[in-house]
Amino acid sequence: MARVALVTGGSRGIGAAISVALKQAGYTVAANYAGNDEAAASFTKETGIPTYKWDVSNYDACVAGIAKVEAAHGPVEVLVNNAGITRDAMFHKMTKDMWDAVINTNLTSLFNMTRPVWEGMRARKFGRVICISSVNGQKGQMGQVNYSASKAGDLGFVKALAQEGARVGITVNAICPGYIATDMVKAVDPAVIEKNILPHIPTGRLGEPHEIARAVVFLAAEDAGFITGSTLSANGGQYMI
Ligand code: CAA
Repeated sequence: MARVALVTGGSRGIGAAISVALKQAGYTVAANYAGNDEAAASFTKETGIPTYKWDVSNYDACVAGIAKVEAAHGPVEVLVNNAGITRDAMFHKMTKDMWDAVINTNLTSLFNMTRPVWEGMRARKFGRVICISSVNGQKGQMGQVNYSASKAGDLGFVKALAQEGARVGITVNAICPGYIATDMVKAVDPAVIEKNILPHIPTGRLGEPHEIARAVVFLAAEDAGFITGSTLSANGGQYMI
């Protein structure tokens, strides 16, 4: 039977590409989303992938949402923690709300989503947890103290949990996308992209969502069982670590 994959933030941007690529690779895919009903409905219509609405920053909502997905499709064996937001501002202008929103959605969500599926993965002795971090978690980015902190936190989560999962057949890995052509990057002032970002990307262009999705399919595979605790960069050469 096809393995079940759950992708958070899976109906738009990088997440949508991940959902589609996993479906094409033979997984039964469920896509979570937080707010944009219209985008989710048209995503389901186009792809046939069901969408489930809940807020990944809310633990109880995650427990309830995952229970719904598992009742409909079976146990989640591949979890892609992709959902993320930005609230960019120079630190001297950053509010506590901007800090909390980003930390809760981008970092606390990894606990909220992974904890409810972890015991099942342990019992079945198989699991793939793939967390979408960011180049800006690796190198830091001015205007993104909250985001960079959350994405660096994701890497710590992955490296610690990978050690716990290794002996029970669960791999935990991170992917660090660079600047990808999605709504999130399009929200940045084009002048800033042109002047401050693109000159630092050796490929001279933004990445495409499917260029991240292929890395997810690679890490989710049955024969990727020896790859755990790793950080896979896909950033056009912007940062090499
Ligand atoms: N690198 C170097 N310098 C930068 C810079 C950057 N990335 N971004 C801004 N600056 C400079 C500006 O050129 C400006 O310099 P001058 O005063 O000499 O002109 C100075 O910093 C102040 O910047 P702003 O005038 O833009 O300040 P602001 O308060 O109006 O805006 C900001 C601040 C909203 C953070 C804006 O600078 C911005 O959007 N920066 C880009 C932040 C960014 O990279 N976000 C990524 C979003 S996509 C994403 O997060 C996905 C992912 O994982 C990669």
